[in-house]
Amino acid sequence: MAAGEVVVVGGTSGLGLRLAQTFAGRGTKVLITGRDAARTEQVASEIGGDTRAAALDLAEPAGIGDALADVGEVAHVVLAAIERDSNSVREFDLAGALRLATLKLVGYTEVLHALCERMHDDSSVLLFGGLAKDRPYPGSTTVTSVNGAVTTMVRTFAIELAPVRVNAIHPGIVGDTPYWEGNDAMLDAVKARTPTGRLVKTEDVVGASLFLLENPAVNGVNLPLDGGWIMM
Ligand SMILES: NC(=O)c1ccc[n+]([C@@H]2O[C@H](COP(=O)([O-])OP(=O)(O)OC[C@H]3O[C@@H](n4cnc5c(N)ncnc54)[C@H](OP(=O)(O)O)[C@@H]3O)[C@@H](O)[C@H]2O)c1
Repeated sequence: MAAGEVVVVGGTSGLGLRLAQTFAGRGTKVLITGRDAARTEQVASEIGGDTRAAALDLAEPAGIGDALADVGEVAHVVLAAIERDSNSVREFDLAGALRLATLKLVGYTEVLHALCERMHDDSSVLLFGGLAKDRPYPGSTTVTSVNGAVTTMVRTFAIELAPVRVNAIHPGIVGDTPYWEGNDAMLDAVKARTPTGRLVKTEDVVGASLFLLENPAVNGVNLPLDGGWIMM
């Protein structure tokens, strides 16, 4: 285990929350972030162990450095936050597009800018993209664009932050995440189109994330995690 704290940006819900719980359960010091201070504190106390909270909005990146000012040595940074945006070229919502593009492109980068001097040779970074980059759907224009950009961000970060390792995970649809709750028709359709005959689960994403964060030879990788859905 690399020395220092694990910072999970977007750690109040879904995949980020489960990763924060996993590290906290191992006795690791964890910092989770969300947008609202009281809610993030509440989630951190529910996670328990040595978990603390910071509030920041990645779509307002000027405040990120101050929000992370008291972080010490950093073992791993997980960038899992998403503010979903339903958008198309024909009916383009400029405000939503600007927030999501800022969040993933500028916000993710600013977090690493703020923390890079506190990382060390064994530190690593994990970005979350998604397979909307390869399989667009109606309304995915901004999501597809930013998740496509994650693939290139990984490469430039891995070079610029070396020897810190930087990887990304690109899930398909993770069936047991809060976002998909109650959307059974969609989940059934994805399952039917997945060669493994099962939906990707949060625990699958956690296993792959730990591999990307902790294996010292894995660097500059964009890992799809979809049970083969993208091939069908
Ligand atoms: N779930 C899936 O099926 C799936 C599929 C493909 C890719 N992904 C990717 O996996 C990652 C995690 O997805 P998820 O479904 O687990 O997410 P989620 O449950 O929707 O959680 C999103 C997290 O992002 C935080 N957040 C939202 N807007 C933010 C902002 N403006 N600034 C900072 N933090 C913000 C939220 O915190 P607060 O609400 O507390 O502020 C929350 O912790 C995302 O990057 C997503 O694109 C997920």
